[in-house]
Amino acid sequence: MKHLNMLINTADRTGHISREIYGHFSEHLGRCIYGGIYVGADSAVPNVSGIRKDVIDAFRQIRMPVLRWPGGCFADEYHWRDGIGAPEKRRRIINTNWGGVVEDNSFGTHEFMALCELVGCEPYIAGNVGSGTVQELADWVEYLTAKGGSLAELRAENGHPEPWHLKYLGIGNENWGCGGSMTAEYYADVYKRFQCFCKNHDGNQLYRVACGPSGGDLHWMETMMQRVTAQHMNGISLHYYSVFDWNNKGSATVFDAAEYAQTLGCVSRIETLIQRHIEIMNRYDPEGQIGLLVDEWGTWYEVEPDTHPGFLYQQNTMRDALAAAVSLNIFNRSSSRVVMANLAQAVNVLQAILLTEGGALIKTPTYHIFDLYQAHQDGEAVYCFSENEMLGEDALRFPMLSTSASVKDGVLTLTAANCSLTEDIEICCEIAGLTGSEASARILTNEVHAHNTFDAPETVQPEALPVTLEGRLLRFTLPACSAAAVTVK
Ligand code: AHR
Repeated sequence: MKHLNMLINTADRTGHISREIYGHFSEHLGRCIYGGIYVGADSAVPNVSGIRKDVIDAFRQIRMPVLRWPGGCFADEYHWRDGIGAPEKRRRIINTNWGGVVEDNSFGTHEFMALCELVGCEPYIAGNVGSGTVQELADWVEYLTAKGGSLAELRAENGHPEPWHLKYLGIGNENWGCGGSMTAEYYADVYKRFQCFCKNHDGNQLYRVACGPSGGDLHWMETMMQRVTAQHMNGISLHYYSVFDWNNKGSATVFDAAEYAQTLGCVSRIETLIQRHIEIMNRYDPEGQIGLLVDEWGTWYEVEPDTHPGFLYQQNTMRDALAAAVSLNIFNRSSSRVVMANLAQAVNVLQAILLTEGGALIKTPTYHIFDLYQAHQDGEAVYCFSENEMLGEDALRFPMLSTSASVKDGVLTLTAANCSLTEDIEICCEIAGLTGSEASARILTNEVHAHNTFDAPETVQPEALPVTLEGRLLRFTLPACSAAAVTVK
């Protein structure tokens, strides 16, 4: 048993945790949209206008704040007009990025906006810069948000007379790669041109997001910050996947302790990358007007045996739960600049929160982390120090104990993950500025390979964790391989 002390100062506010840090991402990829989210109105699977009821309920339960769509790489080959109007007349295209399958466009703008309304989340639309035109993207924004004009009339003919509210607009996706293989210098000019024609119609205010770097590409960030000011860019994205070896990504469920440490080392590395990008942003935007959106993040393994290699379907274990717990703690601690994060992806793809098989649905361990952490949404991050020990090797060392804390409406939420696979941690946390006197906690813990299956959907489930509060001292024990949320009111 390890004994570690912690100190929280509720008076020392370090940033506002925007609820969008708990965001998600859904791409036309494999079974994320089709089968996962959308089954069509004629399906035997219970649905609302074709959208799975169980998925809506699960998204609502974790208070999903924002959902990014339609890609990913798919966004830069998506032409929005293909996805409106009578479904049987919609253009059938080849999804060239993801398996070369036929995309019938039955899930389009109206279906996505309906999904967001049902879930109660903000839509985040990624526009096509790579293979689209400025006019096409400007028209999409007008179709979505304008009250009058031919595009609004067309929207009304298609069943939605009222304009939608659209805040988040991504101007392209990974334009350094699948979104057009552009240089940062070239993209900066393209970005400025595209954003210029995406207008704020009838009171709708867009939050324009530029394509940012992948991982540690500091040149991309430097170039964008140098050439585009806050006048033209509200936010810039960052993509980071926790992969040790892209040529051999390993299995989601069969891994040894060394592979586990590599994954957690890769996960923790994002903190350094975020800090480096923020240092650049601070030089050009000291007032912090431009937000950093980690709009794709997560683990990425080889696909499950006997599944389509282009569909990126992977299982999800306690290792992924810890990856999520650590990442969300990092985003909370970076919340003075990180304003959004979107886990890749919501259903049946990569580090999914939900997996489906026909009419059945399971919640993954990662889902339960979002459930445990939801009290941080819209909280004020507060100073949180923990004694620690480093695990792993060389450049990929990672802290044994990962933590973050926030205060909202007088309630303190502390989330803590024990990343050791062998040692429990007894925590004694002093809370300065504490007003509450009642503490309670929930924990997710199991053997690191444990996961939920369609035969055993509740193997990994949150449970109550005993905690004691004596004066300013909060005490609890985190078993090896666990993550917990403690509330003090
Ligand atoms: O999430 C899968 C893919 O990863 C996305 O389409 C792309 O943006 C990224 O490379």
